Amino acid sequence: MNSAATNPVEANESHTIPWAERPPSEIIAFILRRHHAPLHRDLPALLASARMVEEETRGESLSPAGIGEHLEQILLAVENHLAKEEKILFPLILAGRGRAAFMPIKVMMAEHADHVANLARTRVLTHDFQLPERVGSLPASPAAHHRGRVWEPSQGSHIDDAAPAWRALYLDLRRLEADLNQHIELENNVLFTRVMGGDSDGL
Ligand SMILES: [Fe+2]
Ligand SMILES: [Fe+2]
Repeated sequence: MNSAATNPVEANESHTIPWAERPPSEIIAFILRRHHAPLHRDLPALLASARMVEEETRGESLSPAGIGEHLEQILLAVENHLAKEEKILFPLILAGRGRAAFMPIKVMMAEHADHVANLARTRVLTHDFQLPERVGSLPASPAAHHRGRVWEPSQGSHIDDAAPAWRALYLDLRRLEADLNQHIELENNVLFTRVMGGDSDGL
């Protein structure tokens, strides 16, 4: 994986200091801005989209049956996890008390493993993000970008109507997978590793 831990910079970052050399406070600020804020903002719409696509494609051979309930579990688990990092763990690290954070870090790492298992389950439910050939070949529509916010369930034959939202949902789920993996790697392999090694100075 092309990870944040090994990339010297993110595309939208202006400096060239590798993550491993940056102070924990800077890594935390980046995680909050680049990973936590988008999750808070986007997961509810993703859940709404998943529920509608599941409903509209019911009966299709590749319909992602169960994806709505699964996304709801992901949203709850992720929001619960982010709250613990934002309210407990990150303040401990920022206060220079990272050495006291051994147990919270262990809990967060166990929850990361749960998130990875949830992502694997997402692939099972979406048949590895596989779309019916007909859906994949239909022309793109601006509706694909509206997702759950404006897309309404239709009457009668649904497959053509559902196609843009179905494709958009899978694109968004792929982005969620890549983003969560990068987020987890940055926390596990950079931030937590440094804090557990006693590096909470130079904030
Ligand atoms: Fe996080
Ligand atoms: Fe985390």
